[in-house]
Amino acid sequence: MTEPLRPIEWTGSSIRVLDQTALPSGLVYVSLERVEQLVDAISRLAVRGAPQLGAVGALGVVLAMDQAEREAWDWLQLQAAVQEIRGARPTAVNLAWGVDRVRPLMAQGRDAVLEAAQAIVADDERINRAIGRHGADWIEARVPGRVRVLTHCNTGALATTAWGTALGIIRELWARGTLEVVFADETRPLLQGARLTAWELAQDGIPHFVQADGAAASTILRGLVDVAIIGADRIAANGDTANKIGSLGLALACKDAGIPFIVAAPESTVDVSTASGDDIEIEMRGEAEVLSFAGVRVAPEASRAHNPAFDVTPARLISALVTEDGVFAVDEGQTPAARLSDVPR
Ligand code: MRU
Repeated sequence: MTEPLRPIEWTGSSIRVLDQTALPSGLVYVSLERVEQLVDAISRLAVRGAPQLGAVGALGVVLAMDQAEREAWDWLQLQAAVQEIRGARPTAVNLAWGVDRVRPLMAQGRDAVLEAAQAIVADDERINRAIGRHGADWIEARVPGRVRVLTHCNTGALATTAWGTALGIIRELWARGTLEVVFADETRPLLQGARLTAWELAQDGIPHFVQADGAAASTILRGLVDVAIIGADRIAANGDTANKIGSLGLALACKDAGIPFIVAAPESTVDVSTASGDDIEIEMRGEAEVLSFAGVRVAPEASRAHNPAFDVTPARLISALVTEDGVFAVDEGQTPAARLSDVPR
């Protein structure tokens, strides 16, 4: 297996990121030196995935403080810039979490903020590897023989800072020799599955099929997979989970087929201040992402697009939530929310 990819890095004066819009054609790194560059990179999904957004959100506060120093901003301008980063995408709670984690340290100066932001980056791989071990243990205890996994969107190193969450479980199964194959949904409209997950699986030599999102329910009901594993952008206090559009359909199909539907996410994705999925803001994206393909309009000029980036899977459809602290049987009423509400976040 190749060394884990590390798609974000603090250079000392900028955030160096792997531009995910260029994959899999090329490995293009860009250095973000200004708040507006970071916000643009987040908005166009050059930087993406909930845990990665948490990391760049925290580093973004350092970026804003450096820019404030260079351009002689006052405190209000600096706070507005930080707020702009925090709100660049609304659904993945990790972005706001990363900003909020370091923001109280601004009064102590830039180095204190940088140290806290770098700790978030450094901790992410440990968290993901723990998720991988817990998830693999849980699956191996329930699925005899080698496991066939279905996954959706991209939850790998590209969505985090290293290793991955749902893809971390898949990597762990592969390392243990108990993975047979992965079905990776292409993930319309921006193809995070076909472009990014397939690329990461190929890098590691993991056998996989890319399938159209519309094939997933049939793959599940025909018995071609043993388990579905997805990531999460926000987990409400009751366990309802927002993730990439198309996740809900997988959960319904898994329930019908009687196979486990697993959510894998760090505890920073659990938002105890959001009571249920009804309270999660769903990001609506531009119509061109649906009406065009590879920049070419494919739908009639008269057509409009409905383009929610995420959907919400009710807790009752989620067999297990895997975090760095263990596995919670969400469909039996276990959520980490009660315990997390006692922990300073
Ligand atoms: O719009 P994206 O590509 O940022 O959506 C990402 C997802 O939905 C991921 O599944 C989620 O953030 C978990 S990443 C470990």
